[in-house]
Amino acid sequence: MVTTEGVVLAGGYATRLRPTSLSVSKHLVPLANKPVIGWVLEQLAAAGVKRIHIVVGPHSREQIEEYVGDGSRFGVSAEYAVQERPLGIAHALSLLEGRVEGSFVVYLGDNLVHGGVARYARRFEEAGADAMVLLKEVEDPTRFGVAVFNGGGRLAGFVEKPKKPPSRYALVGLYFFTPAVFDYIKRLRPSWRGEYEITDALDLMIKDGRRVEYAVHEGWWIDVGKKDDVLEANALLLDEHARRDIRGVVENSKVEGRVVVEEGAVVRNSVVRGPAVIGRGAVVEDSFVGPYTSVGDGCVVRRSAVEHSVLMEGCVVEGVARLEESIIGRKARVAARDGRAVRLHISDYSVVEI
Ligand code: G1P
Repeated sequence: MVTTEGVVLAGGYATRLRPTSLSVSKHLVPLANKPVIGWVLEQLAAAGVKRIHIVVGPHSREQIEEYVGDGSRFGVSAEYAVQERPLGIAHALSLLEGRVEGSFVVYLGDNLVHGGVARYARRFEEAGADAMVLLKEVEDPTRFGVAVFNGGGRLAGFVEKPKKPPSRYALVGLYFFTPAVFDYIKRLRPSWRGEYEITDALDLMIKDGRRVEYAVHEGWWIDVGKKDDVLEANALLLDEHARRDIRGVVENSKVEGRVVVEEGAVVRNSVVRGPAVIGRGAVVEDSFVGPYTSVGDGCVVRRSAVEHSVLMEGCVVEGVARLEESIIGRKARVAARDGRAVRLHISDYSVVEI
């Protein structure tokens, strides 16, 4: 059966990504100037998924609906369900029982896998299994759902965030299911963290003799949880997708390598070294914008050097000798002044390292 339905989970509070997540849903944090959920939807569309249910939280609902709309610009039809409280992935899926019709793919809206969904969707269809998961070998499995293998190397179960991991194979946030999963979700009890875990539902399926297949994912896998994940994901996506494409104005500047200068952007008396992207209407003047940097639409960078950073829409960076590994929020302003005094207008959970 061809999998043409998808579920994207975009609820949760993303406390580890404060302060960014206080005002921007983490699913909308730009990576190479495109929100992570935008990449997810493109990958699903490319795999032939036509109808996508997006589970949002009460706080993320408006922003996500505004960005995704009816899904038509991604070539899909998008529908929404609201998860009132962050009670876990399995709980979010339970909201869709009766709404999804056949087999379906679930993508956590803050995850992204290299190479997309299509080949795994094909594998799931060919396998004819009740569910299929992706596993990735990781250094520290304790942060994830982890696969358990028996003596013969067969998949024997799953455990969520184990203190003593039974293997190094973590569950990636991309799952394939038949509607059989709903029966197992109903049997779940909340875990120690108060969530209905999809990991537990998968474990029950295996123990009940259902066919749960797995594929080991070889390329990169992004799980945007905290600041460093955002910077790493931004770098990976720039590396992979940035092509030299100069649509804006470049004056008296050196633009080296794979750099996108969007329409209406101006680069003046500056050096931009790729991979990098300069968003629509942004101004880069008397500055160096270094590799692995995304400058959002309408940003202004003056008399500054910026490297390995994400500057979100409309922010201003002025006179900063070297800004690196930073995330600057929308319309935020970072300006160096002469003298020793530092003046700040910083909001909750902000981080300043001088
Ligand atoms: C969730 C799942 C976990 C999975 C991870 C992938 O964790 O519960 O099994 O490995 O996503 O990103 P959470 O993001 O809720 O900590």
